[in-house]
Amino acid sequence: MAEEKSYKYVITGGGVAGGYAAREFSNQGLKPGELAIISKEPVHPFERPELTKTYIDLEVNPTLANIYVCAGTGEAKQYPNWYKEKGIDLIVSTEIVKADLASKTLVSDDGKIYKYQTLLIATGSTNIRLSEIGVQEADVKNIFYLREIEDSDELSFAMELYVQRGKAVVIGGGFLGLEISSALRANNHEVTMVFPEPWIIHRFFTAEIASFYEGYCANKGIKIIKGTVATGFSTNSDGEVTEVKLEDGRTLEANIVVAGVGARPVTSLFKGQLEEEKGGIKTDGFFKTSVPDVYALGDVATFPMKMYGGMRRVEHADNARKSAAQAVKAIKAAEEGKTIPDYDYLPYFYSRFFNLSWKFYGDNVGESVLFGDNDPKSPKPKFGTYWVKDGKVVGVFLEGGTQEEHKAIAKVARAQPSVESLDVLSEEGLSFATKF
Ligand code: FDA
Repeated sequence: MAEEKSYKYVITGGGVAGGYAAREFSNQGLKPGELAIISKEPVHPFERPELTKTYIDLEVNPTLANIYVCAGTGEAKQYPNWYKEKGIDLIVSTEIVKADLASKTLVSDDGKIYKYQTLLIATGSTNIRLSEIGVQEADVKNIFYLREIEDSDELSFAMELYVQRGKAVVIGGGFLGLEISSALRANNHEVTMVFPEPWIIHRFFTAEIASFYEGYCANKGIKIIKGTVATGFSTNSDGEVTEVKLEDGRTLEANIVVAGVGARPVTSLFKGQLEEEKGGIKTDGFFKTSVPDVYALGDVATFPMKMYGGMRRVEHADNARKSAAQAVKAIKAAEEGKTIPDYDYLPYFYSRFFNLSWKFYGDNVGESVLFGDNDPKSPKPKFGTYWVKDGKVVGVFLEGGTQEEHKAIAKVARAQPSVESLDVLSEEGLSFATKF
């Protein structure tokens, strides 16, 4: 008979949300043996955004220990021993392959059965593969994706291997594409980015913000090709990539290709068993799904966005951390017959590459107002953008800010102050936020 284990709480997925949920359970009070985290990954929960930042930087001698959850918030890092001491069963290298929410049962790839009273789904996202978007010969050697430690290790190995004659092509002009390109360039590879949009991080950046980062990258030696896509690859006799073929007929020499062409939430285990919306699992403001005793956190959750109305799914680390804490607080409060306030999330995105660092709070809708010095040749560029909708500031972006300034822009994005005119905002620049 299959081995069976029962827990009060089970978290499927040991990523950012899984790690922060464990932290919150521990803060709220947890008895040994009550909680299990079951994770496909072979390692403990770590701060996934660091894969394209410190972990890929060969100069800083990256180690996993530096990026364990909760390094992202400055709280104590949860080393493997932390879970042991708290009596949390962290079951790694184990994939849940079947979930039956009606009988509260999970089955793992090694045939074990896990019963739970409360389930927290934290299965995150998976990378979209090039073959899924119609790119031919996408299974050749030396095409990399980044999501897990192993991906990053393999890419680092290739970066070292090809450093003397490294020609890298990065497919995709989003957050990941930009961070990976800078990491490759910083490690002395010739880098070309290719993407179909008219500018980098097109979904989020304005043309003016993008022009700074594109100029900065060009100054660092990164070549950017826009308005076309990769269609296939050429290889050598060992099956290793040698060229990227583009739709516009050009070919690019390459011995490393990194694809950052998007991600999708991992929800297939639960299909048909709970309500979904906007590609994710529909939850309320406590991350409760349509099925009793089942919660969804992080990238997989589509939750009510109290500040702006409507439902949203947010694929960012900050929401993974905060949604995890909210769900656990709600679970614990419900056990005592209490309630907690609804999730009131202020969107927060960030990125770091080369010596640059930007943060954004709020919503990027309405008219945009640029301020500051966005000359990519400046020795210390510092600039930002306000988004104004219906006469109110609803979002703020800042490159090169200090901690105090970040607090100030977050405050403005939360308070949504009225502005006299866009010209006044442009003239006042950052001081509009810092004096607020
Ligand atoms: P996460 O992906 O962290 O964890 C999901 C876990 O579930 C994984 O351990 C997975 O193996 C496991 N799992 C899935 N299916 C399973 C199954 N059937 N059984 C068991 N386990 C299963 N965000 C940001 O705000 N700023 C940034 O700079 C970056 N940078 C960045 C870089 C890179 C390389 C990536 C891949 C992502 C980012 N992100 C980011 C996004 C951010 O990392 C992401 O939003 C969070 O990791 C989401 O946390 P979750 O816990 O929801 O998923």
